[in-house]
Amino acid sequence: MPDYKEIRVNTVPAYTAAIGPGLLKDCGQRLRETIPPCHMAVVTDSTVGPLYLETVTESLKAAGYAASAYEFPAGEESKNVSTLSDILEFLAKERLTRSDCLVALGGGVAGDMAGFAAAVYLRGVRYVQMPTTLLSAVDSSVGGKTAINLQAGKNLAGAFLQPAAVLCGTDCLKTLPPEVFADGAAEAVKTGVLCDEGLFALFEDGTLKADPAEVIARCVEYKAGVVERDEKEQGERKLLNLGHTVGHAIEKCSGYTIPHGHAVAAGLAIIARAAGALGWTEEPIAARIGACLTKNALPVSTEFSPEALAEAALADKKRSGGSITLVVPKRIGLCELKTVPVTELLPVIRAGWEA
Ligand code: GLY
Repeated sequence: MPDYKEIRVNTVPAYTAAIGPGLLKDCGQRLRETIPPCHMAVVTDSTVGPLYLETVTESLKAAGYAASAYEFPAGEESKNVSTLSDILEFLAKERLTRSDCLVALGGGVAGDMAGFAAAVYLRGVRYVQMPTTLLSAVDSSVGGKTAINLQAGKNLAGAFLQPAAVLCGTDCLKTLPPEVFADGAAEAVKTGVLCDEGLFALFEDGTLKADPAEVIARCVEYKAGVVERDEKEQGERKLLNLGHTVGHAIEKCSGYTIPHGHAVAAGLAIIARAAGALGWTEEPIAARIGACLTKNALPVSTEFSPEALAEAALADKKRSGGSITLVVPKRIGLCELKTVPVTELLPVIRAGWEA
């Protein structure tokens, strides 16, 4: 029996995130444990499709599913209403029904878009997440956030829809380009700063001192608990946005040419420096966080001005009326939410900004 880690996510409905080698090859057999024979429409991108689509569709067919596939051009710039519309037209052309299922095969963009298509097609069908990047494995494949970007900002149209299953085949991680691996390391380091100094320490010398499956399991376990307690992000789940207020602003200012994890890394470094400068931390942590990110080939600053970042951030979902909720690191392993007037955002970014 392959060596899978399994984490139960007790939302309604509940599902299992399985992590381990061979899970793409075995996906059909594995999914038959929870999903009866139906039509599986796989949504993937032009990078992942040539690598894994055949493995996945063959496995699905061998397990008794019908399988079809839609491939879109890889990249954050595809995460828009036009690609969503193309996916929906594809599903309709394939005559998918409510007893059928989508499969999101790929990184965060494929997961977010296939998930959103599943949420709105026929007013909601099932979907399965098959993350192939470290970033989607440690974060975006779990928790049911789905979205597309609007011109006004990142993830501004979306829905909460929990997947029916998450199958994370860890063999995919071995062939990731270093900068794509680093992108996921940023989200794992973020999780370490949120809840687990030991996890953070695994990244500190820049050569991951653990099996990636172990890192993914620790991140997913923490996230599962948060999502179970606050699925719709009314409170505690906002903590998962550590580094994301400035991170999303960087992505938007760059026209989405800076990858998500790299932008989050710079956002994390900026909020850590701001927290130190403003006396919000329990101990000095900004230098340690910055050094860890740098060792993992991640940025700790941005060329965009504090003014540009503040303006972009104020279009973000994290704003509520006249205030915005920031996630502030207190020490490595503990963060808190701090709601400030929107007028405070620019001074906070200035306090942490470094050219
Ligand atoms: N990526 C943050 C969340 O799922 O809430």
